[in-house]
Amino acid sequence: MKVFKLFFSAMLVVCLGLEAHAQRPALIPVPNDVHWAKGNVMITNQTTIGYDDAGLKPAAEYLKQLLGRATGYNLRTRQGKGSIQLSLNKSAGKLGRYELSATGGQVRITGNSYQGVVNGISTLRQLLPADVELKKTVRGKVWAVPCVKITDQPRFEWRGLELDVSRHFFSKEEIKEFLDVMALYKLNKFHWHLTDDQGWRIEIKKYPLLTQNGAWRTFDGNDMACMNRAKNEDNPDFNLPENKIRTQGDKKLYGGFYTQDDIRELVAYAAQRGIDIVPEIDMPGHSSCAIRNYEGLSCFDKTQWRACSSPMCPGKDHVLEFCKDIYREIFSLFPYKYVHIGGDEVDMTDWKACPDCQKRMRENNLKSEPELQAWFNRYMERFFHENGREMVGWDEILDGGISPTANIMWWRGGAPNVIGRSLANGNKVVCTPTTAFYLDYAEDPGNMQRIYNFRNIPGIENAQQEAMIMGVQGNIWTEIIPSRERMYFMAYPRAVAIAELGWSNVKDMNFNNFNRRLVKHFKRLQKLNIPYRTPGLTGFNDVNVFVDKAKVNATCSDPTAVVRYTTDGSFPNAQSPIYKPGMSVDRTTNFIFRTFTANGRRGEMFRVNYQKQDYSPAEQISPDNGGLSVAWYDFTGQNCNEIDKAPLKETYTLSDITTPKEVKGNVGLIFTGYINVPKDDIYTFKLLSDDGSLLYLDGELVLNNDGPHAPVEKSVQHAMRKGAHKIAVRYFDFMGNGGTLKMRVFDTQGKQLDTQHLYCH
Ligand code: ACM
Ligand code: ZN
Repeated sequence: MKVFKLFFSAMLVVCLGLEAHAQRPALIPVPNDVHWAKGNVMITNQTTIGYDDAGLKPAAEYLKQLLGRATGYNLRTRQGKGSIQLSLNKSAGKLGRYELSATGGQVRITGNSYQGVVNGISTLRQLLPADVELKKTVRGKVWAVPCVKITDQPRFEWRGLELDVSRHFFSKEEIKEFLDVMALYKLNKFHWHLTDDQGWRIEIKKYPLLTQNGAWRTFDGNDMACMNRAKNEDNPDFNLPENKIRTQGDKKLYGGFYTQDDIRELVAYAAQRGIDIVPEIDMPGHSSCAIRNYEGLSCFDKTQWRACSSPMCPGKDHVLEFCKDIYREIFSLFPYKYVHIGGDEVDMTDWKACPDCQKRMRENNLKSEPELQAWFNRYMERFFHENGREMVGWDEILDGGISPTANIMWWRGGAPNVIGRSLANGNKVVCTPTTAFYLDYAEDPGNMQRIYNFRNIPGIENAQQEAMIMGVQGNIWTEIIPSRERMYFMAYPRAVAIAELGWSNVKDMNFNNFNRRLVKHFKRLQKLNIPYRTPGLTGFNDVNVFVDKAKVNATCSDPTAVVRYTTDGSFPNAQSPIYKPGMSVDRTTNFIFRTFTANGRRGEMFRVNYQKQDYSPAEQISPDNGGLSVAWYDFTGQNCNEIDKAPLKETYTLSDITTPKEVKGNVGLIFTGYINVPKDDIYTFKLLSDDGSLLYLDGELVLNNDGPHAPVEKSVQHAMRKGAHKIAVRYFDFMGNGGTLKMRVFDTQGKQLDTQHLYCH
């Protein structure tokens, strides 16, 4: 019987030598080294999962579950030999290294650690047809793994996603699904932002009010904004899920929290998938849930929301005890060595007036409030170390002078030289700057490329410096993300680009090739029921100009998406006409395009203006070719039209529309002069800014990118006769958190104009 069984399974898993599956699977992240061979290894109900080391049992069970969903097979797992063999070989290589070979009827995955084996499982999953992701049995399907040999290891140890569960809450089951998708892409750090002003989400036994009261709130401004967007944008993903709302008397409360049992369950669930959980309890700012529920944690009884909430008082000893009590329970729940203390956006106004804070500063010879925060961090870090933990904090923890052992999470895209300062001080860095990694920021057509371009990390020049970069992470802040659906819409597929960035070697990374693989992965995400964002439409500007008539171009790289449109200002719905390539217009038309996925989900809307124009005449002047006049104002507002109401600081002449090197701090800039175009043509102006910007041509506002925001590029066209035309650009940087300004000009052939000869005054 035994002999027969062995023979039978060997027959079924034999490398069949079929050419039927000629199309190679798309692997993301792209592995270090892949050698494809002819033939396949078949997964059948006779396949067995063997593991050499008892520590790999959870990995075997995980693989069994993964393969069982769609195949319907109840595969046997056992310590010993199997037709899929999981092994440990603690050889050199970075943590997470694995080798996978599929040949001769067997799949072998050998990791240098548990994580390595799980990484190999993620690759095996991607070697199988996308249907393997379905949660229901697919009958009659052939489950073929193409013969291959892969040797692979991560570039960075830290490939993370942060999820804010305070602003909006995500349930235990939603977190499991989130971890499942992370594992598919070898993302291995789940940074869990568990507390903030809008909700405390983790049970702390010693301070039960933190969740009894602090996990629930009446609807706040963010909730209202979400509900408004649900209505105004015809998008149910912005609705607050019913299961996060409870009624108490005549009040509706929003919220939820994780019990300590939930936390233990999720820590184990993540560990099985090779994922470490990095809990964050944000201190001393973003702590008003604690302050509201336990007396005496802030400097004064009266707290105030200025730019941020009033922080905890580091001058009071009982506050330090409170903080340690919280972390004591955190350490007992989360085994991973890295724990995040937050430390961002602390409003230090109260500290300046607080006798306890000032006394603490005098006693410790601290000269400024940022130094007081640094003192608090060092105090807490000693406690972390006593408990065998390492501290991670947002990059503000650098500001008052930091210990060399804390780890920096770089988030402020505009903060000066975080990497340089951290490395000089010996601190390791996780890169998650707003400029590319904030997945709650609206995606624009350049966003994926900006993530991908980060493979050449700014300021890193040699291997020794690179070794100080722990890795990269995408952050999902959820102020305006109330639902699982909206969360995936914002986070994916950008998170997939971050996964490749964190894992793959620079020499193997190619953006076009990545995009081709990504398109295949959309199918996999669809099978998993992950409502990723269908890629934005391209092929048009925000304003498109024509003199006679124009072809309308709206392209989506997801072949399964359908594009519908309206021209009367109404939102496109499932009945709206379908856009067809080659469509043309001969009069000014305002389109709204909207993508619909294969299963009918509504995507974003794109408002696209096609404008019939005559060429605007050139000015009859011959201006000086030396560049544009630039005025820098000491501006702190949020609206470009107010910039010149602020005091003038300095003036410059510049041959480019970008921030002058000398300009720092409060930034409002006004560029004025002429643009000297070389021929009669329709020119395209692309203006990228963080924060607001406006572009005027021939005295007319043609591009409006105003208001505080993340980097957003807008593009408009303008029909111009050869010669000089008036140009003006207004730009501001709100709170010094951005600082991006860049304008590019193209002719109809797509050739970028050389700015050296373009601008004059
Ligand atoms: C942050 O975005 N405040 C870290
Ligand atoms: Zn104080």
